[in-house]
Amino acid sequence: MAIQINEKQKMFKLDTKKSSYVIGVSADGYVGHMYYGDRIQPDGNEMSDEDAECLSVLLGGDRDHCIPAYIERDKLNFVDTFSWEYGMPGYGDFREPCLDADCGSGKEALEFFYDGYETLKGKPELEGMPATYSDDCQTLVIHMSEPDLKLGVELYYSVFEEEDAITRWVKVKNNSERNCYLDRVFSLCLDFREGERDLITLHGAWGRERKIYRRSIGEGKQSISSVRGVSSHQENPFMAILEPDATEDRGRVYGINFVYSGNFLAQVEKNQFGHIRTVMGIHPHHFSWKLQPGEIFTAPEAVMVFSDTGIGGMTRNFHDLYRGHLIRGSYRDKKRPILINNWEATYFDFDTEKLWSIAEEAAGLGIEMLVMDDGWFGRRNDDSRSLGDWFANEEKLPGGVKRLADGVRERGLKFGIWVEPEMVNPDSDLFREHPDWILQYRDRDVSRGRNQYVLDIGRKEVRDEIYKRIYTVVKEAEIDYVKWDMNRSLTNVASHAAAQDEQGMVYHRFVLGVYEMQNRLVTDFPELLLENCSSGGGRFDPGMLYYSPQIWCSDDTDAIERLEIQRGTAMVYPLSTMGAHVSDCPNHATHRTTPFDTRGQVALGGTFGYELDVTRIAREDREKIKDQVQMYHKYNDLIREGDYYRIASLPEKRYYDCYMVVSKDKEEALVSFVRVVNRICRWNDRIKLKGLDEDAWYKLDDREGVFSGKMLMSAGIEIHGADKDFEGKLISLKRVLR
Ligand code: DGJ
Repeated sequence: MAIQINEKQKMFKLDTKKSSYVIGVSADGYVGHMYYGDRIQPDGNEMSDEDAECLSVLLGGDRDHCIPAYIERDKLNFVDTFSWEYGMPGYGDFREPCLDADCGSGKEALEFFYDGYETLKGKPELEGMPATYSDDCQTLVIHMSEPDLKLGVELYYSVFEEEDAITRWVKVKNNSERNCYLDRVFSLCLDFREGERDLITLHGAWGRERKIYRRSIGEGKQSISSVRGVSSHQENPFMAILEPDATEDRGRVYGINFVYSGNFLAQVEKNQFGHIRTVMGIHPHHFSWKLQPGEIFTAPEAVMVFSDTGIGGMTRNFHDLYRGHLIRGSYRDKKRPILINNWEATYFDFDTEKLWSIAEEAAGLGIEMLVMDDGWFGRRNDDSRSLGDWFANEEKLPGGVKRLADGVRERGLKFGIWVEPEMVNPDSDLFREHPDWILQYRDRDVSRGRNQYVLDIGRKEVRDEIYKRIYTVVKEAEIDYVKWDMNRSLTNVASHAAAQDEQGMVYHRFVLGVYEMQNRLVTDFPELLLENCSSGGGRFDPGMLYYSPQIWCSDDTDAIERLEIQRGTAMVYPLSTMGAHVSDCPNHATHRTTPFDTRGQVALGGTFGYELDVTRIAREDREKIKDQVQMYHKYNDLIREGDYYRIASLPEKRYYDCYMVVSKDKEEALVSFVRVVNRICRWNDRIKLKGLDEDAWYKLDDREGVFSGKMLMSAGIEIHGADKDFEGKLISLKRVLR
């Protein structure tokens, strides 16, 4: 049973395959956090009074759990040291609070008391928001209430046993007769009694997304955040908190991730007692949610995964959870069509004939879909105009998108388009007609980014109009794929349509608006393949994955740069979600030239596609595309569905990068090795493989003999070949009988 409850002790134990999470209620009715770690007894269906008593003594101790006498005398100290399930301000918990409200008399001290619980079979949806799903998991709801302010809080916990994951979200209800303004509502609070912990986060910049950064958690607060209105290139809404000696393959690791695509805060805080409070939620910056009598606010979902097999175990749990319980739609478990995108091939300089010629050549090479990127609408010949005017540019595309699409299909390819629905250029008919549809503080100056303003997508009439325009193109031209881009951060975040006391809702309404539009799109066109994108990888988060099974990983398509970007992204997100293309050389971003084979090998570790002009590249590269297409068809099932193991990374090894993917049944595996910099006298590097069946025998496709899984994982293999800078090598393994 995933959830065990002891009513007498008011104790709740959530069990996954390898972890337990225990919640207890103090004698005074405070909801406390008791334990999160290795799975502990009792197992089975019941938690007897004796078991609960025992856990209470072990985990709670007399300071934490049942000290009513103390409280009367010294409430402040109790509140300050208690491990809370949801920290509250004002009574002596000086750590970061989770909720902040003004219900008419200024900022209030909040004191929530346990009010009961319920358990649900399966997992309820978070209306209007992305979330993990399952009919089989169990959900616990803890009810709490604030008697003075008449606010109710519900803490939700859904238990995914197989994936060692517990997902959490929070609802706040206004049971009073007056408006309440919620100035923060976090989704997760996790107090650790042990202060010696490391922290892993993912940092970056445009074109350098999600670099892995590990440090030890020091005294005070360390946080990552975004107030850009998107989850951002700079910080990803992910944190891993781990034992200091935890490695890739050993030790306990707690991964947390926010299923949200807007502003966020994730913070760890080590206090005077060496305890760590972790919080995650919508960033309080410019957030003030007006909650009218009877209304409920739902804070987005946060995911916690536990691993006792190091960082790698955490990664594989995230991958399994997201592949099986977050990503939806007809492409969830399917091979994606190999696409060719014209962005780096032509930029804005294309027309129907040009795209047909690319399609013609691509079809002969085995490529399966052509995607027309930016520049097909309005008068868009550069990035200075026409966003919002989602009507075909007849000069470039005579007969419109439909004629172009039909021609592409006649040549044997599927067809996709690029859109950027959340934006408008000042030089556009849309903006001239509706100047008040942008985010703006009254009539004050607005910051432009890439020549564009941000539309007030939180407003229904704005969304409806933009959606109608895009729907029409998709419907008429029978589009198979949409790349949904978003090329600037939000600024001047105020709505012309919102009342003064609702301006603090604009950021979140914007995100909800995007979710609503994307949901409409994938509902209206269930067979459509949606790929999200935000100036490359600026919105690579689980929220987006609920709508699109893949996200463009980075505008940096250089194979060597991509090694690190994709490695960091794969820390949390499955390989099947990472948009990765083979592009031309010298690379447009880095001016580096890498072998065509290596570019193919690196893109194989993502969704795989091309971003070059196939009509102009060298004949031998064109021939190589045919081989790469075969390679994709041969290995994509394994890469999409298998278990991912990091073996060596460029920053650690300095000379090469290596990872492998092993099928769930351990029948086959693929090792990807790229020598980044060659050096002399290097003795052959030995690569210790991972994830194989110790007792099974494997044949490697590049050498004679068969080897046991144990040998390959303990002694390792030497890499034959891949001796030059930037040269790569794939090694395929198959289980054999011996
Ligand atoms: C940014 C994206 O990341 C690129 O791939 C491309 O679609 C451009 N926008 C187009 O403006």
